[in-house]
Amino acid sequence: MKKRYYIDKIADFVGEEVIIRGWLYNIRTSGKLMFPQLRDGTGIIQGVVSQKEVSEKVWEDFKKLTQESSLIVTGTVAKHPKKDEYELHVKDVEVIQIAEPYPITPKDHGIEFLSDHRHLWVRSQRQTAIIKIREEIIKACRDYMYDNGFTLFDSPIFTPNAAEGTTTLFSSDYFDLGKAYLAQTGQLYAEAGAMALGKVYDFGPTFRAEKSKTRRHLTEFWMIEPEMAYYDIYDDMDLIEDFIVYIVERVIKNRRKELSVLERDITKLEAVKKPFPRITYDEAVTIINNKNVPLIRKTSSGAEEEIRPFPWGEDFGAPHEEAVVEDYDRPVMVYNWPSEAKAFYMKRDPENPKVVRGVDVLAPEGYGEIVGGSEREDNLELLETRIKEHKLPLDAFQWYLDLRRFGSVPHSGFGMGIERVVCWLCKLDHVRESIPFPRLMYRNKP
Ligand code: 4AD
Ligand code: MG
Repeated sequence: MKKRYYIDKIADFVGEEVIIRGWLYNIRTSGKLMFPQLRDGTGIIQGVVSQKEVSEKVWEDFKKLTQESSLIVTGTVAKHPKKDEYELHVKDVEVIQIAEPYPITPKDHGIEFLSDHRHLWVRSQRQTAIIKIREEIIKACRDYMYDNGFTLFDSPIFTPNAAEGTTTLFSSDYFDLGKAYLAQTGQLYAEAGAMALGKVYDFGPTFRAEKSKTRRHLTEFWMIEPEMAYYDIYDDMDLIEDFIVYIVERVIKNRRKELSVLERDITKLEAVKKPFPRITYDEAVTIINNKNVPLIRKTSSGAEEEIRPFPWGEDFGAPHEEAVVEDYDRPVMVYNWPSEAKAFYMKRDPENPKVVRGVDVLAPEGYGEIVGGSEREDNLELLETRIKEHKLPLDAFQWYLDLRRFGSVPHSGFGMGIERVVCWLCKLDHVRESIPFPRLMYRNKP
């Protein structure tokens, strides 16, 4: 195999000659010296080209280079005289391609322009830092599951029915079988997995035809969904808490460099420790009303109406979530939700059938819901009633009802949206930067 050198490991080669294969990030000339900044995907290193020390061809080649030209550079690694960095004393260069004038320059571009050029925008230092942190989060999720006795149980993306409400379904024609719907969740399948394997998780893209142009809604997002037999809602909350703390610790430990590129205040992340506050929906509504935050409702004429106090039974919007978490430095778990605000599969609280044993985890710093979970209805008759109440097709759910016919047990699970967590840990303003190619209501390109 060809020996390969990468910028993030260059400290191991001080004083040695190496070859860097990459792109020109930037270049600055100062008399008989040129300082090209080279990037190779693992980092950026400053090159030093001295007219005295290189051939005339090398000098002329560097003069011709434009931003993002591809090149292979040979040079010797040296410790930077002042900074805690390394530089490359260039000896030779092989130009692979001179790039056309690059559309993204150090000046400020509007977000529409950058989004149209997402395929190039992902090369920037900020975007590569976010993508690295995203990967760390996903790897941490999988490691946690593997180390804690969970088995990966993949769920299908083409599904025969809705699972999270019928208003956000994407459909497609499916041969002679009518419509297939893109999965809004893998949960129902994960429940079958939990009855087979005890503790499982599925992890993949999920789809919601959300007609919301908010900073946190994608139409295609990645969700990890653990599901556990013999777990009640309290066991579920214990697990969620442990899982989130593990992920945050991993990112702090392994992605310090990237967090600093993003100028993320790490002390805010270090505060994410157990236990997380646990409050009921009722207590959350009291907080909302003490802060006088109204429910905003669209009237039939399209005008917006402010309703105070916040009416019991409604789901929270971003301002309500913010009001609930702003007094805390760590995620808050809100549980015991009104049944009308939540999905059909959540278990009614036996002591108070108006509420379900569901939990939303709200992230601090205004990031809102990152996890939704619940104990599942495990009683056959009650589940059938719920399916009918939600006007869902009973036929399509017969297989799911079988899980309550053949050895039904109490069980619980949750779903965590990866992009929401990336936004929070990276402190992004908008979910569009949290995934390489975001799919939003108003954007499906490039
Ligand atoms: O609260 P949700 O809808 O719950 C479920 O889908 C359950 N079946 C999960 C389960 O219990 N297995 O979604 C779970 C999480 C949300 O908390 C949020 O993080 C993310 O998925 N999410 C979205 N992320 C980005 N864009 C959207 N449109 C999202 N909708 C949900
Ligand atoms: Mg939810």
